[in-house]
Amino acid sequence: MIVVENLNYSVANAQILTDVSVTLPKGGITALIGPNGAGKSSLFSHIARLLPMQSGRITVDGMDVAPANRQELSRKLAILPQQVHFATRLTVKELVQFGRYPHCQGRLRAEDHEMVAASLTAFGLTALADRFLDTLSGGQRHKAHVAMTYAQDTDYLLLDEPLNNLDIAASRALMALLRRLADEEGKTIVIVLHDINFAAQYADHLVVLKDGRIEREGAPVDMVTGALLADVFGTNAQVAVVGDTPFVMP
Ligand SMILES: Nc1ncnc2c1ncn2[C@@H]1O[C@H](COP(=O)(O)OP(=O)(O)OP(=O)(O)O)[C@@H](O)[C@H]1O
Ligand SMILES: [Mg+2]
Repeated sequence: MIVVENLNYSVANAQILTDVSVTLPKGGITALIGPNGAGKSSLFSHIARLLPMQSGRITVDGMDVAPANRQELSRKLAILPQQVHFATRLTVKELVQFGRYPHCQGRLRAEDHEMVAASLTAFGLTALADRFLDTLSGGQRHKAHVAMTYAQDTDYLLLDEPLNNLDIAASRALMALLRRLADEEGKTIVIVLHDINFAAQYADHLVVLKDGRIEREGAPVDMVTGALLADVFGTNAQVAVVGDTPFVMP
């Protein structure tokens, strides 16, 4: 599990995260939701040590993130940031191979090639493997980055808005793949989603952020309510519940 304790983060005079304490359970899919600017990506950046910690403590399965060995951390946890800057002269396959770096430091072994091939297959990218990234569509390029993260083959996968640019079929396929990874391979998926309906349908646990604080957390059926949409997002949307799954009416 990932334990965040008393995390504060400020830039200049702006307080971005305020005393964030949250436990992200091991296994399953946890979705982080909240309005634009709530602090979701900032929290992710701290968990993956893309930002230095100003105060507080974060552990992943008991491993203290701040002093952790970089290779050890990147074999445990992979992150797909919200914004990725891509190198145009890389092929899809070369990009996905980067995911194996923490395991082989660039000298790919048979097992690394196998994992790269498996990632390309899982994301339907095999036919595009030798294409340069700058020749792809936005959604194809995005999938290639998700495939790179997947190829890292870590216990924890942090994905910041992975459904960006994906069509409905690709979105459903990705969520189904993540569900399978959680259920069959025991992976822990933590995902930032703006589409509350995808979060409600696929996640086991929702953590809601607002104004740099944890607002509430719980099972989707308890979280996704008209009151949440009004209090947290400031919008008056209706919610229907079908079986155990809430649906926000657009
Ligand atoms: N380096 C920075 N300097 C100033 N403000 C920053 C910096 N980084 C983040 N912020 C601010 O912190 C707040 C939280 O940003 P963050 O990217 O974590 O939000 P988010 O919840 O991921 O939003 P979104 O859903 O739009 O991606 C925002 O108001 C943002 O403008
Ligand atoms: Mg963000």
